[in-house]
Amino acid sequence: GEKVTEKLVECSDPNRDFPCPPASRVPIVDFTPEARVTRVRRPAHLLDPEYQEKYKEAVGKMRALDGSNPLSFAAQAAVHQSYCDGHYRLDPTEKNRPFDVHFSWIFAPWHRMYIYFYERALGQLIGDDTFALPYWNWDAPAGMGIPAIFKQGVSTADNPLYDPYRNMENMDALLDLDYLKKPRRDTIPFEPPTDPAARAKYDDAVQTNLCTIYLQQVRDGKGPRAFLGEKLCSESSFRVKEINERSKRRQADGQSSKVSPSKSQSQGTLERMAHTTVHVWTGRANPATCSAEQGGVVGHDGKPHCQVDMGFLGTAGRDPLFYSHHANVDRMWHIWSTRLGGKGFDDPEWLDTSFVFYDDYRSPRLVRMKFRDVLDATRLGYTYDKESEAALPWLNSKP
Ligand code: C2O
Repeated sequence: GEKVTEKLVECSDPNRDFPCPPASRVPIVDFTPEARVTRVRRPAHLLDPEYQEKYKEAVGKMRALDGSNPLSFAAQAAVHQSYCDGHYRLDPTEKNRPFDVHFSWIFAPWHRMYIYFYERALGQLIGDDTFALPYWNWDAPAGMGIPAIFKQGVSTADNPLYDPYRNMENMDALLDLDYLKKPRRDTIPFEPPTDPAARAKYDDAVQTNLCTIYLQQVRDGKGPRAFLGEKLCSESSFRVKEINERSKRRQADGQSSKVSPSKSQSQGTLERMAHTTVHVWTGRANPATCSAEQGGVVGHDGKPHCQVDMGFLGTAGRDPLFYSHHANVDRMWHIWSTRLGGKGFDDPEWLDTSFVFYDDYRSPRLVRMKFRDVLDATRLGYTYDKESEAALPWLNSKP
């Protein structure tokens, strides 16, 4: 790539509550595809002990980097935060609309880029360029719970993959993909019970989850608009932004904000279904019982809240689970576009949309990537393990 130098976006938003990227001039290079696939992403619940240690070590080293380093864990979380909740504004002629990487066709490719650089940084930190980001395999029964590796220990000091800001009620529960609409009344344990009646309930709940994934990937995800979302700035994505602004204002006023059904209009099934539910299930107290006055989970400020880290877009990147969650979201896109034959948009506006990301923690530089660069994971040097792709239990789970 050709080297150019550009000034970084002004870091002047007075509402920022996270570290700014360093305000220095850094080189920007264009992305060049990787020559070979060197990284195979595997399910987080099936890692051998050696790989588990690697993952912990890498994230531990990332946590230890100074916050001023754009590849530090704090700065990586801030990257995600700055692209949602209205931290960036489009230019004033656009009436200063907040810019967001969610709620539109930007969602899938932007997050693919983001975790790609996160994965590279982890590999670099442990000097292993074959290191691949493990994924939270929530679309298979054995992965329908928080993988053990993220729960071990009692603090981030003894396990860098740990995060205390989660909904503890669901730590050992079976994932509930209906949690947003109508959370299950009683928590079903993640471990399959031996008692026949309890086992029947468990099997039923697993089947319900599998059907949801089937709807997301197959029945309701036909075509790029349905699966990947609407064009940014389309009518409906504007309405979404207005709705979000309004609900934020209401939240700031201490009123509870219910997820409006129209909020999801511009999102594709990839974003709106399992992805969102897994966030909320991990990071929010049961919406049926939690109120603003009586929060269910203790947050960073020591006070009870209804939503913590994963449960809110702005803070989600502070939980290491986020990146393994998004590796599976990415895998769902990968399966859709390979095995299921889904095609992306052929609109040049989408294909040529580009973002820059930091690369190389030792001497950070910015890499510019276009959506067309990331449509094929092999050009990013990674792939997903063949074993779990051969199985895909949801593929035959028509409701
Ligand atoms: Cu940027 Cu799962 O969200």
